[in-house]
Amino acid sequence: MLGLNERIVVVTGGASGIGRAVTLRLAREGCTVAIFDLDEEGAQRTKVMCGEKAASVFVYHVDISDYMQVERATADFEEKAGPVDFLANVAGWDLAKPFLESDVELWRKIIAINLYGPLNVQHVIAKGMALRKFGRIVNVASDAGRVGSSGEAVYSACKGGIASFSKTLARELAKSGVQVNVVCPGPTDTPLFRSFADQKLADALTRAIPMGRLGQPDDCAGMIVFLLSDDAGFITGQTISVSGGLTMHG
Ligand SMILES: NC(=O)c1ccc[n+]([C@@H]2O[C@H](COP(=O)([O-])OP(=O)(O)OC[C@H]3O[C@@H](n4cnc5c(N)ncnc54)[C@H](O)[C@@H]3O)[C@@H](O)[C@H]2O)c1
Repeated sequence: MLGLNERIVVVTGGASGIGRAVTLRLAREGCTVAIFDLDEEGAQRTKVMCGEKAASVFVYHVDISDYMQVERATADFEEKAGPVDFLANVAGWDLAKPFLESDVELWRKIIAINLYGPLNVQHVIAKGMALRKFGRIVNVASDAGRVGSSGEAVYSACKGGIASFSKTLARELAKSGVQVNVVCPGPTDTPLFRSFADQKLADALTRAIPMGRLGQPDDCAGMIVFLLSDDAGFITGQTISVSGGLTMHG
């Protein structure tokens, strides 16, 4: 893909699953990457997995729901590596529970991570991008936000919110050279997926997916990295599902 070499990138959630796959891919393409994640050990493992590119991966222990932590880590990374060109907001979390059995504490946690988290990171990082007249942002939402998902009502609200937020930000920043797009994974075999899907559910989803298998982290990484690349230089405000055809949108 074009235009990735030597770019400066922040990836949230790079300690695991899809975020790890994105980090490995970006490092391989010659980017300098900061992982912002709560799981510092996992992020260090991702760095080691980058092999000869490990020196270009920086690990920050960041809770994205805390604006100040995001600000501090961004300032440190930019001092060391330079201004951020690209941002992949991949971190996310959910605990599946029917809405009527859930409580306000759980809503707060889900909203803090999946809605405030990406808002915080974009508010901190997109400012510099707009001033420099260049930047690309990919927000990872979910097909749950497009078509709903039983047991994930509040998470779906956050993910749907992120998709509409992204369209608005894409409009606000288009003339400042900042592009904002959304990738919606379908069921993807990661630790998050395994935390709420037993084998029976995984098998049922596999049967429902037209392409006949669960997604793998790399399936999403390709689309996310493409949307960060110069090959996507005229794409903004779009939402794309990577779901093996489980959801199809016009
Ligand atoms: N796996 C799926 O089936 C699936 C489907 C749709 C959407 N998604 C979305 O894809 C993204 C990646 O999920 P995944 O499946 O790779 O999950 P994962 O659990 O493997 O990785 C998520 C990462 O986010 C980090 N994280 C969680 N809360 C954080 C916080 N407050 N601050 C910083 N980091 C935090 C975790 O430590 C972890 O490293 C998420 O946004 C998720 O909602 C996943």
